[in-house]
Amino acid sequence: MENLLVAANWKMHKTLQEAEEFAEDIKAAKAKASLLIFPPSPYLARLSALLEGTSVEVGAQNMHAEEKGAFTGEISAAMVKSCGASRVLLGHSERRQHFGETNASINGKVKAALKHGLKAMLCIGETSSERESGRTMDVLRAQLEECLGGVSAKEAGRITIAYEPVWAIGTGKTATPQQAQEAHAFIRKTLSGLFGKEYSKTRILYGGSVTPENAASLFREKDVDGALVGGASLDVGKFLKIGNAG
Ligand code: 13P
Repeated sequence: MENLLVAANWKMHKTLQEAEEFAEDIKAAKAKASLLIFPPSPYLARLSALLEGTSVEVGAQNMHAEEKGAFTGEISAAMVKSCGASRVLLGHSERRQHFGETNASINGKVKAALKHGLKAMLCIGETSSERESGRTMDVLRAQLEECLGGVSAKEAGRITIAYEPVWAIGTGKTATPQQAQEAHAFIRKTLSGLFGKEYSKTRILYGGSVTPENAASLFREKDVDGALVGGASLDVGKFLKIGNAG
């Protein structure tokens, strides 16, 4: 198994100057995990340039499925790549909740990202009412099948999954290591069913109120391959502690 991957999703936070300071600090530091930053898109080119030659990757938080056109305010896969970024985060629950993204529209974005050679990190996860009504695994299966429909087994090698239970995002209510492990094992089994046995190696990150205090217990679980961190990733010290927790 590869080493852990710890990713920062800054959402709509930080000025360019603050982002540059974070990048300089991270360049000077060491982490056991591979690190990845999803900054706001205006900073992609600058952060990619600052972190060139390091092992820290940079990715976009979102992109449009179309190649180009009259889509004011949107960015395409080719634009993300041309900024030096290697990854894109897709299907975050905040995109689903506030911007009307659906499994079908996310599927279009996943296919466009892979076509342009980007690595796609697909976010999936159940709401609290879905969990309480015992539908968690059905929801996860449908999200995987629908968001990854039409993706070839070869392209699937560039997919990473982030399991982010919606009820755990920004709430301080982290999933227990057992809840995370159970979901991750199910996701791994579903991916193998969709793409073949070798996809059991796909990295599956946990996201939702990850902190320096709870990261190690999550990372001890067999199928937790890293973390997608929101709030705690805004502070370089906290982010590095999570990157060294495994
Ligand atoms: P928090 O770590 O703030 O709960 O956010 C998680 C998240 O949404 C990462 O994508």
